[in-house]
Amino acid sequence: MRPQPDFIHEFVRGKSERTLLLLHGTGGNERDLIPLGRELDSTASLLSPRGKVLENGMPRFFRRLAEGVFDLEDLRKRTNELADFVSSSAKHYEIDNQNIVAVGYSNGANISASMLLLRPEILSAAVLFRAMVPLTPERQPDLSSKSVFISAGAFDPIVPGSETKALEDLLRSAGADVTVRFLQGGHELTPEDVDLARQWLTNLK
Ligand code: MLT
Repeated sequence: MRPQPDFIHEFVRGKSERTLLLLHGTGGNERDLIPLGRELDSTASLLSPRGKVLENGMPRFFRRLAEGVFDLEDLRKRTNELADFVSSSAKHYEIDNQNIVAVGYSNGANISASMLLLRPEILSAAVLFRAMVPLTPERQPDLSSKSVFISAGAFDPIVPGSETKALEDLLRSAGADVTVRFLQGGHELTPEDVDLARQWLTNLK
């Protein structure tokens, strides 16, 4: 039987106990981030779902009303559905559910942050490329055992620096160990993002 609830996804079994949960940006799919996952950690398993929401034919992980304006009801629902998928996939593929690290880009980074805030038991850590504050949770989660790496673009037209700072503050106030790097770039992912994230993951216990 397939994991329930199911998503179209790729799973690549690795040699180590860690699994990277790869979450693509708007218009991406389950195959996009597989090479990135391999570059970041050559021995981890990779679990890469495709977002179920379509915006003009482009897959996303939750609905938005405008750029940077999120449909919060949909975001909550989709976050829980994705968290349930990850949890059932861990059983299905027999991977360690205490060693799942989200790696999200843009829309995928936003739903990763939402999962940390609403379903913190799912992830042990997260790498967030170009993330925003997805929502403010009603109850503050306990993130004291979580590590988060945020990689931001100093000239990102979609994610202003104030937004990165607000996300950092929100995660820190919940107890997370947060590392933030600002790169001299925009919203797109660069080789420097990949290098920094790889180093950070290597040093993660
Ligand atoms: C989002 O909608 O999650 C953000 O605006 C990032 C994007 O997908 O462009």
